[in-house]
Formats: sequence, C-alpha cells, structure tokens
Amino acid sequence: VRLQRKIAVVGTGYVGLTTGACLAALGHHVVCADIDANKVDRLGRGHVDILEPGLDELVNRGLTAGNLEFVVGATNAVSPETEVLFLCVPTPMGADGSADLRAVESVLAEVGDMLPSGCAVATKSTVPVGTADRLRHMVNVPIVANPEFLREGSAVDDFLHPDRIVVGSADREAAQRVGDLYAALQAPTLVLDAASAEMVKYAANCFLAVKLSYVNAIAQLCDRVGADVREVTEGMGLDPRIGRSFLKPGPGWGGSCLPKDTNALLHVAEQAGLDFALLRSAIEQNVRQQEDVIDRIRQACDGTVRGARIGLLGLAFKAGTNDLRDSPAIGIANALVAEGAEITAHDPAITGELPGMRLVDDPYEAVKGAIAVVVLTEWPEFRTLDWTKVAELMDGFTVVDTRDLLDGDDLARAGLRWKAIGRRC
Ligand code: UDX
Repeated sequence: VRLQRKIAVVGTGYVGLTTGACLAALGHHVVCADIDANKVDRLGRGHVDILEPGLDELVNRGLTAGNLEFVVGATNAVSPETEVLFLCVPTPMGADGSADLRAVESVLAEVGDMLPSGCAVATKSTVPVGTADRLRHMVNVPIVANPEFLREGSAVDDFLHPDRIVVGSADREAAQRVGDLYAALQAPTLVLDAASAEMVKYAANCFLAVKLSYVNAIAQLCDRVGADVREVTEGMGLDPRIGRSFLKPGPGWGGSCLPKDTNALLHVAEQAGLDFALLRSAIEQNVRQQEDVIDRIRQACDGTVRGARIGLLGLAFKAGTNDLRDSPAIGIANALVAEGAEITAHDPAITGELPGMRLVDDPYEAVKGAIAVVVLTEWPEFRTLDWTKVAELMDGFTVVDTRDLLDGDDLARAGLRWKAIGRRC
C-alpha cells in the first residue's frame, strides 16, 4: 500500500474538512475545495470556524507541512495526478423527504471531464441507495460509496479511530484503492457493492434513531407507571445485545444526520414499494417527544405559556457542538414562542441573534424572572450552576430537565422542583 496519495476533497463542512485534515494527517496530499471564497481564504490562513475538537490543530499542521491546501471551486482541486476525489457536499432533505443531490451532481458535471483515468470518485455525502450506480454515467471513472460515521463533536477522533471502513463499488478494485487510503488506521475494512455500502450508513443511522425513539417512549411510559428510566436503561444496557450507548432519553433526536437520514430511507423504502412502518413510527415518536416536552413546560407554567417568561438552557442539538440544524431545542423554542411565551435562552456555544427569542451570554441572565427553566442540551457546565442563585433569580420554581443532566438533590436543596422525563422526581 502506497502511503502518499493525491486526494481532492470537495466541500469543507464538518465532514469534508475533517476528512481532508485527517487524510493529510495520515500523510496524503490533500486539496480541499469549497465554493465559498471567504471560507477558503480563512481556512487557508488556518482559521477553522467549525467547533470540532482537534480539527483546528490538524488543519494548521497540514498547512504548515504543506500537504493540505484550500482552493475555490472543485475544478481547482483536480489535477492530472488526482487519485481519489471525495464528494463531501450537502445532500439536504428535499420537500418530499428524499435527499437532494443537486450539489453532488453539479460537482460531477464540473469536474467529470477533468478526472484522470485511474482516479476514483468517492461519495462521503450520505446519498440514497443507488446513487453511485446512478452517477456512473456522469464520469468515466469508477464511483465508490465510502460512507462516514462521524459524530459531530468527536469527528476527528471518530475518523482516526474508526470502528469500520466501508467502501463499495461495482469496481471492487477501485473500492479497495479507496479503502487503502485508511490503511494506517488498521480498522476492519468492508469492500462491498455500491448499494450495500450506501445502505450500511442508512441502516446504521436509522437503527440509532429507532433505538432513541424507543427509549424516549419507554421514558414516557416509566412516568406513567412509576418506574425510573435511568434504572430501567441500566438494566437493559447490561445485555450486550442491546448495549449501554444510545439509551439516554432526551427532548428528541436531531442534528444534521438522523432526521435527514430517517426521512431519506423512508423515501427509499416507499420508492421500492416497502411500507417501513417501524421507521415512520420512530419519526412520529420523535415529534411526539417534543410535544411532550412542550406539554411539561405548559404544566410548569400552570397550564399556559402565554405571556410566561421561560428560560432555556441549551439550544444545540447536543453538547459539544454549536450546530442548530434540526435541533429539537429550536423546535421546542419556536413552538413556545408561537404560543406567546417570552423566551430567553443561553447556550455556551451560541452567540448572536435568533428570531423570536432573546439570546444571552450568561446562564443566570437566562433564568432571571423565569416561571420555568428548561434544560435542552446536556452541556456539563449546567450541572454546576449555583442553583440557590438560580432559585433567587427565577419567578417560578420548576426546572424541566429534558436531558436528565442535573442533580435533583441540589435543586431540591435550593427549593426548586426538578422534572426529568421518566425519572422518579
Ligand atoms: C450521528 C451518528 O452517530 C453518526 O454515526 C453519523 O455519521 C451522523 O449522525 P451526530 O448527528 O453527530 O451523529 O450525533 P449523535 O451523537 O449520534 O446524536 C444524535 C442525536 O441523538 C442528538 O440529538 C443527541 O442528543 C441524541 N441522543 C444521542 C440522545 O438523545 N440520547 C442518546 O443516548 C444519544
């Protein structure tokens, strides 16, 4: 396996930038392209705007070593030496739930004729099953599906310590070539056909979504029957077939992947004539979970949130990121605003302005005068707030803790009422 390969990466979002910087860290020569000239300029000077631990350092290391470059436009990333071109552009959800492939197609239309023979195109963007085969006519080099399994907030670590590498193509030799780029990581590598490789990603992400919807429903049931979901999930998680991870109830799952991928797979199933009722119901459960949280907030405000001051702690879809895409917190905040609540929110990673609410830099400012306080993101710093001070600042006394993050005893000592989903409290 030759170590240094010439790679082009198109798209410098969290997937593309992580892929580019990590492949450079493995010794490859990487040129990253984006259409946003301002972003390219900043990246070229070592400024990383995405909050992703270790990414800034890797980008700067690559720039200094000279094996990581940033250019404007896909065509400038391709040279006669390019061996693999990674597509890391967005595939947002279209109106009908299907993935919108226009960005992928437009990059291929641009660079299709420039790719040297012996080069392979690798799709990192989550694309519907069948895409690699569908795109084949657009280029005269093989297309390899190479899904990523990166979690936001630990993308660099996930990239460098993968559970598995999945590559798939009608041209197995090309798939193997892409798989070889990761040889230094010594992860199990599956060389599959394109559709199976694409399916792995959806099947895995949708499984996680179903698991979470299940556990969220169990949490609600625990409330109704007087069981404690923390104890229940501990008991479940000790079964190695279930596992301990992804068993934490919350305000609903969100982020840039799970909502998009569940809808896309549902769409794929519909197109294929399969009624994937289980998946549909997991998506519906996720909507109900948010509604349940809103209902708990109404109860904390004596039945209606109209005119009520509510303090939100956390807006990002999970801790460790500043990503608001499909964040349940935003859905909940908007619903409260629509019902006439006055929202003040604080998230340690988010500054600036958001429509309909007041965003503040200080958590104590967010709880001031609030009838109810709601924890929506599991930022560890919320645990150690001075709850006596919070109690003094609030007008009411209920804290709805949708992440089961806080210590109920701390809150009780401060005279506050702690409400967590599925917990005996
Ligand atoms: C996910 C997948 O984990 C990753 O493999 C894939 O490539 C992209 O999608 P990510 O979206 O970054 O990664 O977030 P993840 O940490 O998986 O969390 C997804 C959602 O589930 C978040 O809203 C999170 O708060 C929620 N969650 C997760 C829970 O509510 N409880 C849990 O126990 C775990």
